[in-house]
Amino acid sequence: MCGIVGYIGEQEPTKILLDGLKELEYRGYDSAGIAIFQNRKFANFKAIGKIVNLEEKIKKSNFSTDANKPSVGIGHTRWATHGKPTELNAHPHLGQYSYVVHNGIIENYKELKEDLIKKGHKFVSQTDTEVIVHLFEYFFNKDKNATKAFKDTIEKLKGAYSILLITQSEPNTIFFIKHGSPLAVAKGLNSEEILFASSDAPLIGIAKDVAYLEDGVYGVAKPDGVVFNTDVNWTTLPSSKQSAQKDGFRYFMEKEIYEQKDVVTDTMIGRMDDEHIIFDELDDKILDGINEIKICACGTSYHAALSASYLFERVAKIRCNVEIASEFRYKQPLLTKDILFVVISQSGETADTLEALKMAKKASLKTLTVCNVDNSSMTRTADFTILTRAGIEKGVASTKAFSTQTVVLWMLSLYFAQLKKNIPQKEIAKNIDILRTIPNSLKVEDSLHEKCRRLSKRYLHGHGFFFIGRDIFFPLALEGALKLKEISYLHAEGYPAGEMKHGPIALADPELFTIALMPEHLYYDKIKSNVEELSARDSTICAISPLDFELADDFIKVEKTKHYMNEFFEMLVVLQLFSMEVSIRLGNDVDMPRNLAKSVTVE
Ligand code: M6R
Repeated sequence: MCGIVGYIGEQEPTKILLDGLKELEYRGYDSAGIAIFQNRKFANFKAIGKIVNLEEKIKKSNFSTDANKPSVGIGHTRWATHGKPTELNAHPHLGQYSYVVHNGIIENYKELKEDLIKKGHKFVSQTDTEVIVHLFEYFFNKDKNATKAFKDTIEKLKGAYSILLITQSEPNTIFFIKHGSPLAVAKGLNSEEILFASSDAPLIGIAKDVAYLEDGVYGVAKPDGVVFNTDVNWTTLPSSKQSAQKDGFRYFMEKEIYEQKDVVTDTMIGRMDDEHIIFDELDDKILDGINEIKICACGTSYHAALSASYLFERVAKIRCNVEIASEFRYKQPLLTKDILFVVISQSGETADTLEALKMAKKASLKTLTVCNVDNSSMTRTADFTILTRAGIEKGVASTKAFSTQTVVLWMLSLYFAQLKKNIPQKEIAKNIDILRTIPNSLKVEDSLHEKCRRLSKRYLHGHGFFFIGRDIFFPLALEGALKLKEISYLHAEGYPAGEMKHGPIALADPELFTIALMPEHLYYDKIKSNVEELSARDSTICAISPLDFELADDFIKVEKTKHYMNEFFEMLVVLQLFSMEVSIRLGNDVDMPRNLAKSVTVE
């Protein structure tokens, strides 16, 4: 996702901005740019691709700033959402006398743009961001008050946005706001120096105190200080870059579990209004002639695919089959043109999934990839791509990839239902209301994390784990089991709860640990009977549910909610935390488990 940096001070700004952008490379991007304002003059550079391209361009231009004179600069790495990754679409965006960088999505940009065009503003990019700078200049032209113009601007914006704006009308000043996307402001090591960044990695070593802004915080920064609209907390910056990238968490996996509530917001923004799901990246005719959806994937992405199959059939009323990509490749599958072929992949490079996609292309099927990495082999191969916008996932054990994939696939099931007009509009609106509550379901409460940590010490031995669930909670059980085995190296299986009595129940004894997913809103009584059967045969039961369950040896209570999808995401977080805490207690390398690679690009 996009990254932002900003600088006010007397040091050479180009290097500070470029170094800062390099620290944000991990967020993923496809173009970059900076704008610097000194001696009442702007300089602006943009380049597609890696930051070295931008660096080269600046070097060739012989651009330099006057030493020891105040300057102000902003920089940006762009991960394309509206408009292709081109120089024109790269940030910073210029109005007539101001530049802006933005991370997030302005949902109402079309209305704002139309209105500004009528008022005579000329737009050059396809981005949503460009409206911000025009809106600012529109308000500034009215009463020549830059602070008021910035406030008026942000009041008009809907969506998620962190913004830095610089303008000739107020030299040595950065106007900023944080709303939905991350933004930190810091005091530099030298006096009269202020810095901004999307995470603290670019600030380490060049700033001392930092304020991680909360949503809704905005203000004006000048060399002698920052004025905010509200109180903020300043803290001392960490001193090591490695720990900074982890934002204070012990492991990338832990950081990524905690990040899920934010990244799923990114996944959704711009893709729905109150009543409709909007996928600009798809074609309204995508389902024409289609009678079946076939999904291929591996590992965690396969579990997201299985979850989706319940939703495609239940919500969109389309037949859906899911296959493990490595199996699909060699089974000589029947591929008929009425199949929409979907691949799901975090990396977009998994060899088996990519081969399956190529087979579908060769058979002239319509293809769609749900992927986290733009410009990956899969996004380049498929006819359509939906990006999950999870940002870079560093932990080998996938976490936020799964939650964002599941959100996209749920939205896709609604989008298909909408295209086929086979569920009432108000049902779609109801689902959209629930989707909006999912970030909250993914929020990690301290008490929940502590509960998982304490319980983990009782689950370090035994002869195996069964994670059980019914319906869409069965793929979730598979995912819980995969997480545990990947990082704890303990044997774990995911199983459909109703299937235990057809064989695996023979294993039941106190050393068989059953992790039971017991949602209130989906077949509670059925799963309860299945767990009772295991309990009667002395299996140790750890139940996860919003409803008390006396037979459980251990019990993790999740919030009571209105819908099973809220319960799904709440339980997902519990499973991820539980595995991580078991792994930590066993002394394993949580982020780089033995024998595993992040991206499996070989067969
Ligand atoms: O990049 P992909 O989603 O295609 O990767 C698929 C699997 O290799 C991946 O999900 C793997 O199972 C992870 N280690 C799961 O945590």
